[in-house]
Amino acid sequence: MHYSKPIKVQPVKTQAFNDQKPGTSGLRKKVAQFKKTDYLQNFVQSIFNCLPNLPGSTLILGGDGRYYNRESIQIILRMAAANRVGKVILGQGGILSTPAASHLIRKHKALGGIILSASHNPGGMNGDFGIKYNVSNGGPAPEEFTNAVYEETKKITEYHIAPIKGIPLDLLGHYTLEKMNIEIINPVQDYAELMKCQFNFDKIKMLINQDNFELCFDAMYAVTGPYAKQILEDELCATPGSVIRGESLPDFGGIHPDPNLVHARRLVAKMFDEEETGSAPNFGAASDGDGDRNMIMGDYFFVTPSDSLAVIAANAHLIPAFKNGLKGIGRSMPTSQAADRVAEKLGIPCYETPTGWKFFGNLLDAGRINLCGEESFGTGSDHVREKDGLWAVLCWLNILAERKQSVEDIVRQHWAEYGRNYYTRHDYENIPSESANKLIDTLLANLNTLKGKSFGERTITIADNFSYHDPVDDTVSKNQGIRILFDDGARIIFRLSGTGTEGATLRLYIERYEKDIQQHDLDTQEALYDLIEIAELIANIIGYTGMHEPTVIT
Ligand code: G1P
Ligand code: ZN
Repeated sequence: MHYSKPIKVQPVKTQAFNDQKPGTSGLRKKVAQFKKTDYLQNFVQSIFNCLPNLPGSTLILGGDGRYYNRESIQIILRMAAANRVGKVILGQGGILSTPAASHLIRKHKALGGIILSASHNPGGMNGDFGIKYNVSNGGPAPEEFTNAVYEETKKITEYHIAPIKGIPLDLLGHYTLEKMNIEIINPVQDYAELMKCQFNFDKIKMLINQDNFELCFDAMYAVTGPYAKQILEDELCATPGSVIRGESLPDFGGIHPDPNLVHARRLVAKMFDEEETGSAPNFGAASDGDGDRNMIMGDYFFVTPSDSLAVIAANAHLIPAFKNGLKGIGRSMPTSQAADRVAEKLGIPCYETPTGWKFFGNLLDAGRINLCGEESFGTGSDHVREKDGLWAVLCWLNILAERKQSVEDIVRQHWAEYGRNYYTRHDYENIPSESANKLIDTLLANLNTLKGKSFGERTITIADNFSYHDPVDDTVSKNQGIRILFDDGARIIFRLSGTGTEGATLRLYIERYEKDIQQHDLDTQEALYDLIEIAELIANIIGYTGMHEPTVIT
């Protein structure tokens, strides 16, 4: 279809907004905020203004299908045309999972991509919306770029938009808008092809087709539904219905599409056989709104994301994705140190980066790491430059297919070999920002007094504000979380979330190492009880937040 009549593009006058600072992963706000006149337009134009090579370039565009996705896609297409983008490759219906978008940027050697998502945040009319720009390596734009975009948003006075009617988003094919080409592609196909090169599909198929093997994948009514159905059910022949909540809905069925024990209730109920049917699936997994997070479970068993990273590392030799060996591992600072122990044994480096996937990009590009993860249910490798939910699920299936053991046995053997890192995260959500800032400021002011203090048998060896020196480009990122480190390797970490849209969220991360196999069966909260108490005391959490319990424990 051709829109051949050339239309003269007049810039539209606009007023800057003062709240468009991208957070941990792009700009996230309530839908109502994004719907304000020119709000989205201002941000998109600010991105474009920071891209000198935009004219004639190729961009990838898609989102997780949440409410306001389609309208935003139409606006961005018209703006891209007016800003002289050469070509936009768009997922059908405006849909692309975050890892699929990352792959397409790399595959087509695009200048970058715009991903519309607020990840695991709730969707719908009253939910959240988000937008982020990924650069040519397929990964989230580095801080330097997002800061430049923010500066633009504060001074923007006009934007460019082609005054043209929308194009049909649901029909595959080629279109022209002004002089810009638009190609609408199947959002799943390329990603599914990529997965086939990463794993031994034949072996996984054999595992899945065993009579006594049952699998359950909870897509949480979010973007991975179609991806999981095609890969797990169509290609790997899992029983139809293995993918639950597989339809992608704009409001995610009213749930919080975050794969953890609290929000992936449907899956958890199956895996712990809460209906008392007498059996549970052998393998369970869930993914989030935009398909980059993963939760892994066995029957009656939950694998913490930090352990999942360590187990994948220790079993990498069984996975074709790592056929050239594991070069190094990256983990975000609050992620447990379980992976460090594997790295040490393998004689490879383990890098500790700040929270957020963008910090892994340089290490992956430089070939220093090819496996990385975060405690927040994120795992990935150098196949894309985002974390990748289904990829992690396939890693586990590949390991299960090779080891022919249960999820629980694999994890328990891992603990027996490396020791167990008990780990938990407590989130205090929706705290008034002022109180949260006061808590952090006071803690920072008191850091000097903490070093050398003893609590029971433990003594604090380091109390600091984490700062990261990127070994590849020498950039330094400061203020990345408060660390309290103890002489026995235990850690308490505090940081404020950079992805929320309401008030502030305090994240408290607690970890301790247990070598003794006799002590590997404790309840996590009990195992960490004393450290949790110390953390609450040091930060005076109750005093500043008025909250006696965290909102979410993972
Ligand atoms: C959270 C997670 C972080 C993750 C990010 C995007 O960010 O903690 O690990 O990279 O979401 O999925 P936060 O809200 O803590 O800033
Ligand atoms: Zn996500």
